[in-house]
Amino acid sequence: MRMVDLIQKKRDGGELTTKEINFIIKGYTDGSIPDYQMSAFAMAVVFRDMTPRERKDLTMAMVNSGETIDLSPISGVKIDKHSTGGVGDTTTLVLAPLIASLDIPMAKMSGRGLGHTGGTIDKLESIKGFHVEITREKFIELVNNNKVAVIGQTGNITPADKKLYALRDVTGTVESIPLIASSIMSKKIAAGADAIVLDVKTGSGAFMKTEEDAYRLAHAMVSIGNSVGRKTIGVISDMSQPLGFAIGNAIEVKEAIDTLKGEGPEDLTELVLTLGSHMVCLAGKADSLEDARKKLKEVIKNGKALEKFKKFLANQGGDSSIVDNPAKLPQAAYHIDVPSKEDGFVSEIVADEIGTAAMLLGAGRSTKEDKIDLAVGIMLRKKVGDKVKKGEALLTLYSNKSGVDDIIKKVYENIKISDYAEVPKLIHRIVTE
Ligand code: URA
Ligand code: CA
Repeated sequence: MRMVDLIQKKRDGGELTTKEINFIIKGYTDGSIPDYQMSAFAMAVVFRDMTPRERKDLTMAMVNSGETIDLSPISGVKIDKHSTGGVGDTTTLVLAPLIASLDIPMAKMSGRGLGHTGGTIDKLESIKGFHVEITREKFIELVNNNKVAVIGQTGNITPADKKLYALRDVTGTVESIPLIASSIMSKKIAAGADAIVLDVKTGSGAFMKTEEDAYRLAHAMVSIGNSVGRKTIGVISDMSQPLGFAIGNAIEVKEAIDTLKGEGPEDLTELVLTLGSHMVCLAGKADSLEDARKKLKEVIKNGKALEKFKKFLANQGGDSSIVDNPAKLPQAAYHIDVPSKEDGFVSEIVADEIGTAAMLLGAGRSTKEDKIDLAVGIMLRKKVGDKVKKGEALLTLYSNKSGVDDIIKKVYENIKISDYAEVPKLIHRIVTE
């Protein structure tokens, strides 16, 4: 088999066989196929797409390019949740203990944030002592005993994806449904979950700006998951504005605690209950979505979810007293309100730009090597649809530096006030096949 023939076949709209796809991924992983041929191939896929069978084969070839995690020593149905990335997305911090408090194992492998989206590990590390560098054995033991644990990305998982994603990033081949779907699903499948709930974001803060594109991506991923025996459901949710009020690390931990107490922002709470209900049903712990939602609300109300969170923190070395005393979380030196310049209704909060503003305060990284400031971030005071008076705060900058004029300018450029505005729909669509 020659790579050049396979590039031409895809270029001309042909369908590759399983053997051919395995040849490409194996060769690219071991270095016998060079970057220039792989980038030509990726570009052919961008223009020619892939059939459902090719997508599945590509995903599994990437899964098999490295190590896979065996979660079988954990009893029960293992559910994973994945978000395609958003701004101020605190859902994992809430969902992990919430789902675990219904006796459903949450064996979470998480990453750090890059760019305008935050990572769950960074957020958790704003809790003193908390660490994710634990052995696989310890991880499994914690999940078996307390139903929830988080581990950093360890081992040689999907090396083909790692290499291909880096190549796509610099060759204009990121934006392709089969390439994105196989990239995400290969990592989820290799991480060992039995069932997967995908939170596919749509809007300015999302990878997929339009609902139509988000649907195509969700459908592609759901098809791949189901075709390899991992039950998968996609929830298309709004990311036209940041989720909840807090965008940052310590302040999102505080927001997660509030939500676990039943006092969280309305949109974050609703998204958690929607994603959570599907997870509970996939785990076979409820008869219907309504039943699942009722159970989730119950463990919020009776304090079980919050207790689970405390135990989870303590198990991984974290100071669980921050749950009752959030003032012990890292605090920023300055709280700078940004007032509205006019009366009206907030009609737009451009999510990715506000996420970038939080990053510029130090809450996120622009390169992998950047160190982040866990205390800083942005606290929205108004959401889209809210009425605002001139002089009233639109948001508060939590900062450790006083000179933030450039960031304030960015905020004004990305929050629009109009005579009328509606609250955007949060859950756009559920994709099951
Ligand atoms: N996230 C991924 O993991 N892969 C992609 O291709 C795009 C986003
Ligand atoms: Ca948030």
